[in-house]
Amino acid sequence: MKNEITKLIDQIDPNRMPKHIAIIMDGNGRWAKNYKLPRIQGHRKGVDSLRKIVKISGDIDLKYLTVYGFSTENWTRSKMEVNFLLKLILESLVKEIDDLNKNNVLIRFLGTEKKLEVSYYKKAYETCKKSWKNTGLQFNIAMNYGGRQEIVEAFLAISKDIKDSKISEKDIDEKLISNYLYTKMIPDPDLIIRTSGEQRLSNFLIWQSAYAEFWFTDTLWPDFAEIEFMQAILDFQNRDRRFGARK
Ligand code: FPP
Repeated sequence: MKNEITKLIDQIDPNRMPKHIAIIMDGNGRWAKNYKLPRIQGHRKGVDSLRKIVKISGDIDLKYLTVYGFSTENWTRSKMEVNFLLKLILESLVKEIDDLNKNNVLIRFLGTEKKLEVSYYKKAYETCKKSWKNTGLQFNIAMNYGGRQEIVEAFLAISKDIKDSKISEKDIDEKLISNYLYTKMIPDPDLIIRTSGEQRLSNFLIWQSAYAEFWFTDTLWPDFAEIEFMQAILDFQNRDRRFGARK
C-alpha cells in the first residue's frame, strides 16, 4: 500500500499542483449503516480518513486544504447527532493540535459564530491560534459554514463600510467581494472533491468555486484514503483549464 502511494506521489507534476483542494466529506452515515453501527461511528471513522489526508497534503506540499466539517444546514439533524459532531470536531482539533504544529500546519475555522456557544467558539479560536506561526499547509475547517450565509455576511459588512465611508459603492468589484468573505487571503479552490456518489455543492464555497474542477467518487468518506486522493490530483493535472478563454 505504502509503495503504491509512493508510486502515485512520484507521478505528480510539482508544476501543475493544485494550490487549493476543498473536500466535501460525505457518506459517514451510510458507512456506519453498512456496518450496522450508529451514525456517529461513521463520523468517528471519518476523522481517521481526514487525519491521513491532512498528513499527505503536507507531504506533497499542498498549500491549502479546506474541508466541510459542519454546514449551517446540519443543525436540522437530530440534537444528538449535532451535539456529537460539534464535540467531535472541537475535540479532534484539540487532540491533534500538537501533531499538526509538529507538521507545520496552520489551521483556520471558516464559518459563522451564529448559534454556536461563545465558549465553543473561543476554544476553537484559541486552539487554531496556536498554529498561526506555522508556514506549511493551511488547513481550513469549514465549521458552521454556509456559502449563502457567507455572502449575506459579506453584504452586511460591505454596506456598513459604505455607511461608515470606509469604502464607496464605486469600489465594489469581484475582488472586493472576495475580500469580505471568510476566505479572504485564501485563493479559490482549484479542485473540489466530493465522496459518496453525490454530485452537488451543497452550499459549499459557492462564490469561490466559479472555476474549480470537480472530482467525484462513490467511496464513502470513512473509506477514502491517500491512494484516491493522489488519483484525484493526477486526474486534475490532466485537465485543460481555460477559465472561459479560448485555447
Ligand atoms: C457527511 O456525512 C459528513 C459530515 C456531515 C461530517 C463530517 C465531519 C467529520 C468527518 C469530522 C471532521 C473532523 C474535523 C476535525 C473537521 P453524512 O453524515 O451526511 O453521511 P450520509 O450522507 O451517508 O448520511
